Amino acid sequence: MKGLILAGGAGTRLRPLTHTGPKQLIPIANKPNILYCLEDMRDAGITDIGVILGDNQPEKVRELLKDGEPYGVRITYVVQGAPKGIAHAIGCAEDFLKGGPFCVYLGDNLLKGGIAQMVRQFEASGAEAGIALCHVTEPQRFGVAELDSKGDVVKLVEKPKEPKSDLALVGIYFLRDSIFPIIHNLKPSWRNELEITDALENLRAEGARIAAHIVTGWWKDTGKPEDILDANRLVLDELQPRIEGTVEEGAEIKGRVEIGRGTVVHKGAVIHGPVIIGRECQIGAGTYIGPYTAIGDRSVIEVGDVENSILLADVHLATHHKIVSSLIGSHSHISEDEDARPKGMRVVLGEHSHVRL
Ligand code: DAU
Repeated sequence: MKGLILAGGAGTRLRPLTHTGPKQLIPIANKPNILYCLEDMRDAGITDIGVILGDNQPEKVRELLKDGEPYGVRITYVVQGAPKGIAHAIGCAEDFLKGGPFCVYLGDNLLKGGIAQMVRQFEASGAEAGIALCHVTEPQRFGVAELDSKGDVVKLVEKPKEPKSDLALVGIYFLRDSIFPIIHNLKPSWRNELEITDALENLRAEGARIAAHIVTGWWKDTGKPEDILDANRLVLDELQPRIEGTVEEGAEIKGRVEIGRGTVVHKGAVIHGPVIIGRECQIGAGTYIGPYTAIGDRSVIEVGDVENSILLADVHLATHHKIVSSLIGSHSHISEDEDARPKGMRVVLGEHSHVRL
């Protein structure tokens, strides 16, 4: 089975972070989202993988994934350009995909437990297509499926105003050549996209059987800043402690903490896990790094009190203001006026931001 990972799209809900790269590259627990998808595919035995490139700095995706060799897969890039919909993206990859069943993985999705079991179930089902579903509290944000009492799919609707079930389409699809003629005849939706949900609904209406797999572990679509912080928490909940850097005597490390090579945690710093800190960082004396925080490579926390936040690479922090539930782009610099009083703050900062408090 071949695979297709989507790394196009506009990422408007994640601006300004997506001004400097595709959303699929935003790190969750210090690893770009798209790498989780790639590794899930590889671990399920899918190693011949197409990657859809959009028009927002696609070269950054190529730089990370290269030809796939570092990750044990073979990558074929397919340029979609402007985001005309998930079904459009799949259509762009027709030449690469046709000739057998294939799996599509949206590059901003994150799934506990991977996809190996789903791949096996789809192969055994003999169904024309397969979808993954998950019970959610806000189904109107997603594609929604209705199942009959036997568990067969009887209707699929993209972001319905009045959802008939709480079963959201997870961004993983199993398809065959039969989807391509349907995509060719698809009409754009209200958001002017060719929707994969509509394509699947048309396939079903033609009499094809669509197998449904209900996801029982957690699933996240990291389309919004809150979702990224949620995903970060879920991944950090499973973090295995590993200290490769230096922890000076007099620094306090509690709970599960990963500290990368070349990083120094200075005397007097306090880190309460789960926390992940990348390589070659400096964590200064008098700094508190609280639970569910991820800090990217080469960041310097001169002084800081951070909790439940993601700091990308090369961030410089020197403030007594508590930073909570924040996303801070790489090369951002946060400092403060000397007479500033400590207060809580919540921010989403793009790359190269400068904040003076
Ligand atoms: O995450 C699951 C949901 O993903 C499903 O429940 C929906 O049925 C499905 O339509 C999709 O909804 P979103 O509105 O979240 O899709 P989004 O525009 O965020 O695109 C999903 C991924 O596909 C994202 O990684 C960007 C990529 N993409 C998207 C479009 C529209 C492309 O590569 N090309 C595109 O043209």
